[in-house]
Amino acid sequence: MSIVELKQLIAGQWVAGSGDAIRSMNPALPHEIVAEGAGAAVADARAAVVAAAAAAAWAAVPSHERCGVLKRASLLVARAAPVWGLELAREEGKTLAEGVGEVMRAAQILEYFGNDANREAGGLFNSARRGERILVTRRPLGVILVITPFNFPIAIPAWKIAPALAYGNVVVWKPAESVPLLALRLAQALQEAGLPDGVLNLVLSGREVGVALAEHPGIDGISFTGSSAVGRSLAAAGAARGIPVQAEMGGKNAAIVLADADLNLAADQVLAGAFSSSGQKCTATSRLIVHKSVANEFAATIARRADELTVGDPTEEGVSLGPVITADARDSIVGAVRSAVREGARLLTSRSLTLTGELAHGHFVAPTVLDCTGVDTSVWNEELFGPVLAIRTVATPEEAFELANATEFGLSAAVFTNDLNLALLAVDSIAVGMLHINSETTGADPHVPFGGAKGSGLGPKEQGTAAQEFYTYSTTVYLRGGA
Ligand code: UN1
Repeated sequence: MSIVELKQLIAGQWVAGSGDAIRSMNPALPHEIVAEGAGAAVADARAAVVAAAAAAAWAAVPSHERCGVLKRASLLVARAAPVWGLELAREEGKTLAEGVGEVMRAAQILEYFGNDANREAGGLFNSARRGERILVTRRPLGVILVITPFNFPIAIPAWKIAPALAYGNVVVWKPAESVPLLALRLAQALQEAGLPDGVLNLVLSGREVGVALAEHPGIDGISFTGSSAVGRSLAAAGAARGIPVQAEMGGKNAAIVLADADLNLAADQVLAGAFSSSGQKCTATSRLIVHKSVANEFAATIARRADELTVGDPTEEGVSLGPVITADARDSIVGAVRSAVREGARLLTSRSLTLTGELAHGHFVAPTVLDCTGVDTSVWNEELFGPVLAIRTVATPEEAFELANATEFGLSAAVFTNDLNLALLAVDSIAVGMLHINSETTGADPHVPFGGAKGSGLGPKEQGTAAQEFYTYSTTVYLRGGA
């Protein structure tokens, strides 16, 4: 396959960066280059901020026209889904079906925010004073810095950039270094859909440039998804400058299987939550909390079915798990599993990978299930971002909910039960931003808030009306006739 040439999008022009070379490599076949080009240097990033500020008249474009661009981009993205989905699988490592699905999801998100021009734009209140009405209107923040992770290279950017643009902001976007090609594709679609020059600027580079952008005085707001450490440092940098920051961070999401649960349904959902995208989702299921009366049977089923999943080239039919993103990621996941076993965790899966040829060099990790009951191990507490599921058993639903909460994170959880009282108790007991009753911990819809509680999120949530709260500020207008 041909290697795509990477460029920066600054002020509507596709230009070579003046920084170090960047290369997107296939994590399944690490010698294969997917895309390459000259990365951005700090000077390019500064030029991107200047270009965005110069395009601020975008806020004055009628919202129907702004949203029209998003709807046209949605159609272009949907049309390209088979091709870009394959590129996504080659660049990021999720399966082809997941890659195509993610590109379609990006199209749906663009369409959703493309319809925003037709939604309520503010509020109207009565006044205590005669002859007066009070309007609450919304204005864009200005220049938004969008920093996105590798694991959803087009869906997460779409759900940040689409509302930012719909509400009249201009954007400088720095995607994760490992997934520049899908970033280029989304930017191309928006440009082809008629986005004016400078409204979206794409900067392909590493961390140093991200830090320079976050500290740039021309940035009016930051939307970030990634690690908790980086999210907190961006929030601190934003607070120091007095600008809002939205940070979506890690998770250590529990699936709780209670004694009365439908175990077949729970097994399907837990396997999907733990192992789809090789566990590289902040919403992935990484802890399984099972009532002791069903624990042996359920854990054995999960482990057997995990051993049966096909690991291999994600672009091939019938493969359930591709690689993780880098060799470092693989080594740290495998290392954490080894330490857990040394600390006393019992390995329930029994697979050793036997990939041959070029794939033998890929960053593959076998789906792994560990019984951690009674064992104090970091695998239970720390986010690994890989296909590893740690199990503990409990004696009561209350104990299960307490254990689910015993973490610094609070992104997502799932509870499997057919008892409505227990489901309602879970709603009141588990401290998370997203709670699934009888479905897997992952997933997000564009019309409802997405984001975490506790250490998993900072600032307003994403998507739905929550996105508007972040990307705009309100102006309360006391309106009287002049006479
Ligand atoms: C999903 O669960 O489908 O980085 C989306 C992540 C999340 C998105 C999860 N922000 O994994």
